[in-house]
Amino acid sequence: MRRDVDYRKYCEGIGQIQMAVFPQNEDIVTIGIDAAQKAISKIKDKNDIDLVMFATESTFDLSKSAAIYVHHFLGLKPNCRVFDIKQACYSGTAALQMAYSFIDTRTLNSNSKVLIIASDIVKYSPGTSGEPTQGGAAVAMIMSKNARTLLLEPFSGIYTCDIADFWRPAATNEAKFDGRLSAHNYLKSLEYSLKEYMYESGLTKTEIDYNCFHTPFCKMARKAAKQYFPYENIDKSLIYASLVGNSCSASLYLSLISLIDHSESDLSGKRIGMYSYGSGSVAEYFSGIVADEYKSVSFSDDNKKKITDRIEISFDKYETFCSPTPFNCKIEETSYKNIGNITLSEIKNGYRIYNLTTL
Ligand code: HMG
Repeated sequence: MRRDVDYRKYCEGIGQIQMAVFPQNEDIVTIGIDAAQKAISKIKDKNDIDLVMFATESTFDLSKSAAIYVHHFLGLKPNCRVFDIKQACYSGTAALQMAYSFIDTRTLNSNSKVLIIASDIVKYSPGTSGEPTQGGAAVAMIMSKNARTLLLEPFSGIYTCDIADFWRPAATNEAKFDGRLSAHNYLKSLEYSLKEYMYESGLTKTEIDYNCFHTPFCKMARKAAKQYFPYENIDKSLIYASLVGNSCSASLYLSLISLIDHSESDLSGKRIGMYSYGSGSVAEYFSGIVADEYKSVSFSDDNKKKITDRIEISFDKYETFCSPTPFNCKIEETSYKNIGNITLSEIKNGYRIYNLTTL
């Protein structure tokens, strides 16, 4: 109402019911650490982690990696490679595929593992057409020789092209975009990458049991499903995205988690097709087979609780969340329940200081 837009455009036209916004003491690091803590709680020995990659396009520091904060708060060993990885929303997939190759080369230590954190908070300028497609979330994944969620298959289709559909100049927090061009290129890139995937794999579309899509807004994923997989029902994979909005690097993996958390039927042995798209642009269609023990490493109840625990805020409050964070400030305590046990407490000369809090 405050933007003078019919709410049906948001709910039906774009397919978004709610969108996640974050108070000043949460950022890509705090939500990323929470996800990473859960992921490593499922492995026997965190000293097996030899590489940490943080995939994001909403970093606040163009030099120091967000991954270093994760490494610190998780108490990982010092002889561990740690860095950030960027290519718009494709960065989570870039990290995943690099991790796959890394693990494949570990012949001396078969327990070697890679921790990937995909974390983004997406902001567009207030009042622009992109505003209702903001959002944010973090997903953490462990890559190892013994996959317990998804066994990646060794073929994929990739499509890269240089295009000005979405970008974020270094001086600003807010993304710039050409909405129509981006939606067109999302679909065109799916067509090309899917064609290559089909050729490489020798599979037919009927051998793909489910699909998960990068979801900048739910209608985009529905259009993709309708155009390229006419038989497809993707409702379950879109439940979280419809409630948190675009989570960029995390979005495709949030779609997989949404499918796992809401599917009544057993997914073991099913092939999931995964479409990753990052503006600029790089797209990849790949697939994986759901592992038999996938339920033992899922956090379904906790994930659902995280969504229901959120509180609705007023439009005026939302607007205060949109203002840029100052270069020097103590972050005020908020009454909002934090996502995890790390909060941003201060920014000194642009440097972020985090605190461990009790839950
Ligand atoms: P817009 O111009 O505000 O909306 O842009 P529109 O006029 O295109 O309308 C959207 C839909 O709502 C249309 O349906 C309308 O008919 C319908 P469609 O024709 O598409 O089926 N509509 C209504 N329905 C019911 N009741 C009504 C009503 N009014 C209209 N009253 C857009 C929408 C999503 C393009 C805009 O929000 C935007 O530009 N968002 C940001 C860019 C984006 O998300 N692009 C997606 C592809 S690019 C990508 O995925 C990469 C990205 O994640 C970034 C990265 O890689 O890092 C973004």
